[in-house]
Amino acid sequence: MQLRMKTNNCGELNLSNIDQEVTLSGWVDCVRDLGGMIFIELRDRTGFFQLVSDPQKNPEIHKVFEKIRNEYVITIKGKVTRRPEETYNEKLPTGQVEVYPEYVEILSEAKPVPFVLDDDSVSEDVRLKYRYLDIRRPQMFSNLKLRHKVVQAVRNYFDNNGFLEVETPILINTTPEGARDYLVPSRVQPGKFYALPQSPQIFKQLLMVGGVERYYQVAKCFRDEDLRADRQPEFTQIDLEMSFVEQKDIIELVEGLLVEGFKAAGVEVKPPFKQMTWQEAMDKYGSDKPDVRFGLELFDIGDIIMESEFEIVKKTLEAGGIVRGIRIPGGASYSRKEIDDITKLAVSFGAKALANIIYNEDGTAKSPVLKFVSEEQAKRIQERAGAEAGDIIFFVADKPKLVYDIMGRLRLHFGKKLNLIDESKHALLWIVDFPMFEWSDEEERFMAMHHPFTSPCLDDLDKLDNGDLGNVKSVAYDIVYNGTELGGGSVRIHSPEVQKKIFKALKLTDEDVQRKFGFMVNALQYGTPPHAGLAIGLDRWIALLCRCESIRDVMAFPKNSAAKDLMCNAPTEADYKQLRELYIKSTYNPAQHK
Ligand code: AMO
Ligand code: AMP
Repeated sequence: MQLRMKTNNCGELNLSNIDQEVTLSGWVDCVRDLGGMIFIELRDRTGFFQLVSDPQKNPEIHKVFEKIRNEYVITIKGKVTRRPEETYNEKLPTGQVEVYPEYVEILSEAKPVPFVLDDDSVSEDVRLKYRYLDIRRPQMFSNLKLRHKVVQAVRNYFDNNGFLEVETPILINTTPEGARDYLVPSRVQPGKFYALPQSPQIFKQLLMVGGVERYYQVAKCFRDEDLRADRQPEFTQIDLEMSFVEQKDIIELVEGLLVEGFKAAGVEVKPPFKQMTWQEAMDKYGSDKPDVRFGLELFDIGDIIMESEFEIVKKTLEAGGIVRGIRIPGGASYSRKEIDDITKLAVSFGAKALANIIYNEDGTAKSPVLKFVSEEQAKRIQERAGAEAGDIIFFVADKPKLVYDIMGRLRLHFGKKLNLIDESKHALLWIVDFPMFEWSDEEERFMAMHHPFTSPCLDDLDKLDNGDLGNVKSVAYDIVYNGTELGGGSVRIHSPEVQKKIFKALKLTDEDVQRKFGFMVNALQYGTPPHAGLAIGLDRWIALLCRCESIRDVMAFPKNSAAKDLMCNAPTEADYKQLRELYIKSTYNPAQHK
């Protein structure tokens, strides 16, 4: 399509366009007045282009050029000419050409902008407040473009495989993902609330009951949870569900999907991706989303400690605790202070203590724990760790969950500190055989590790009946990319009886179940096909592809870490009248709630 205000894009002109008449429109990136001659760097979404005005050649044009400031929107017409060779700008693809406009028009003036667009020192809050200016940065545009490309590839893939994109509602009842719901008060049903979907989980399952067989959606999800670099209160999932499938079918389908998405980003990944059980991931990496781009695998020395006189740790193990160690190559040279700092780091992760053994170059071992561990036991620990002379090992004993967490985080710390992470790798890994339940100290009950519609492993149904909940596995799987959980899913329960058992194990009362998921349980009774699915966190995927620290960098209008939209200033107080219509009275008291 030929536009009247734009025949060509700024970033796409080069020597092949010499003598061509072009109309260009865009923003003024900078103006340089060099002793009479004025140079303007014109910017549009494709790149930069140099415009020049010479008062001798065209005084009328020059007068307009003199008025032009940064970020003005202008349109020009002129002939593309070759720059004098000594002025070539090698940094720009358009650096060998320029235009002396024969026509120029200011389409829109701009106030001085509150920050220099390409100044990296500008705080993120300022950028978010003026997000529409921030998006003018080529990097932001390129992130949004990549996001679009990946989504486009994903849509094609689903279409080619017979999937329907079906929209599911936003004003719904509660969903089972386990974060806090965002609530929306109803005016026409006084005193009642909708919840915003934490995911389309229930609806996609009902679409399977409805016979759709292959569903996908690029779906908005809402979760009121503590925010981090890879978490936003509203985010996007590539959500899918299929009927008449088993775990391996979903894995194969998603591998094909990832291949296409990565390809759209110029990255080649080759399925089948490695699979690892949840238990192996925890044991070796202390994490259910291990970064397998580097080693430093954890090891277990529980059996050796139990033979020693390390009473305090033995007691921990006898009480159901575990001990895991990590070997740091060359760490024997750490100073006292360095070891203290590492210990402090472990304590900040929740450790009560961090033990260490130094294996000296001369073959001796040095450690405060040698009071309790014999020389022979220290030697066996060294073998278990695969430690050589010159290494140090660290270990922690405590409750399993805490030990995994501390050691997993220490491993990541050393991976970065020792520069062990190969940034050119694209490590995709399936984690399978998750436990069905996870004990919550806070709630004093078992909680669903994925969500309560996940099928338990059918071999474990007797454990479910016997109350041995800690050992029930589920048919759930996560896809992990370079140490980030990209997506997760499961085979679902399609039997109402099994579903009831799970609700019972979760200590949900009949009333709770009826109120929250009654319609779902009801639906399962009308002929439910076996079905399974998965959801990928689109924002996370794109952020990793763009190598961004935060998913905010790949969202056009994200919230900040306090869940605020700094640009439109949401959330805000509501008018008294609005609240009255909703029968809502605020109990918030700024003096009490600091
Ligand atoms: P789950 O809760 O694991 O599964 O979510 C799937 C993926 O969504 C991404 N994600 C997030 N991204 C940004 N901000 C957040 N707050 C956030 N929370 C989750 C993650 C995660 O892997 N209904 C199930 C899927 C299924 O079983 O089919 C679900 O939502 O990348
Ligand atoms: P103490 O007798 O308290 O000086 O402890 C002796 C050593 O045991 C110290 O080096 C501690 O770091 C270590 N230690 C104590 N508890 C633990 C634990 N739970 N995990 C790992 N090391 C421990």
